[in-house]
Amino acid sequence: MDTRPIGVFDSGLGGLTVVKQLKALLPSEQIVYFGDTARVPYGTRSRSTLMTYAGQDSGFLLRQGVKLIVAACGTISSTVDDSFIRALPVPYCGVIEHTAAAAAAATRVGKVGIIGTTATVNSGSFARAIHRCDPKVTAVARACPLFVPLVENGYIRPNDPVTTLVAQDYLSFIREKRVDTLILGCTHFPILAPVISRVLGDGVTLIDPGVYTARQVAQILNEQHLAAPYRGDGQPADAYYITDQSDFQSVASIFMGDAFCGQVQTVDV
Ligand code: SIN
Repeated sequence: MDTRPIGVFDSGLGGLTVVKQLKALLPSEQIVYFGDTARVPYGTRSRSTLMTYAGQDSGFLLRQGVKLIVAACGTISSTVDDSFIRALPVPYCGVIEHTAAAAAAATRVGKVGIIGTTATVNSGSFARAIHRCDPKVTAVARACPLFVPLVENGYIRPNDPVTTLVAQDYLSFIREKRVDTLILGCTHFPILAPVISRVLGDGVTLIDPGVYTARQVAQILNEQHLAAPYRGDGQPADAYYITDQSDFQSVASIFMGDAFCGQVQTVDV
C-alpha cells in the first residue's frame, strides 16, 4: 500500500479526461495534476522542445512526491523514448498502447481512424501500436490541431457552431475512409466527443484514451503494490497546478462535474 499521489501531466486541460477516468476507477488515489497552460499547444512543437517539456513537467511532479507519472498527452506519449522512461525513478504510463489495443479489438471492418495533433499523427505512434496488436487492421490518420485551442478556450458545447464547422472539415477525410472505430488520439478530444459523434454518426465507435490509460494505471499499481489504501472521509484533496491563468477552472468544472475538487495553483516549472 502506498499513499503517495499519482502524478498526471498534460499541455493544458486535456489530461483531465484521463483524471476523470482515474477518479472513477481508482477513487482512493490522490491526484496531482500539472497542466502547462502557458505553453499549450504542444502538438505543433519540435521533438527536442517536446523532450524538454516532458522533462520539466515530470520533474515538477516528482518534486511533489508522486509514485507514478502519467503522460496524459497524446503528443508527449508519442514523443518520449525508452531512455526517457528508464531514467524516471517511478513507473511511467502513456496513452498509446492500451488505447491502440482497444481500437484494434473494437473494429469490425478492420479499419481504424486516428485523430490527434500534428506531432502525434506525424509520429505514427498509434498506427504502429495498432499493427503490433493486429497487422490486418488498416489505420488512417488526420491531424486536427484546432481542436486543442477550441477546448482550451471553452468552445465545448455539443452544438457549438464554430467547433461543429471545424469538426465537419477535419472529419470529412475520416468519413470518406469508412472506418467504424476512431481513436481520439489527443486527450483534449474526448471533451469534444459529443460534437465528433454528431458529425460522424452512431456507426463510428469513439475510443477515449482516458478509459484505457486508467485501466493500465490500475494494472501497474496492482503489479507493483503501489495502490493506496481505502481512506474513506480522510481522502486528501487533489492538487491542480497550471503554468498560466486560463479558463482551466471553469472548463474543468463543466467537464468533470463533482469529480473536480481540489485547489488550482499557478506555478513556474
Ligand atoms: C496539444 O497540446 O497540442 C495537445 C496535447 C495532446 O496531444 O494530447
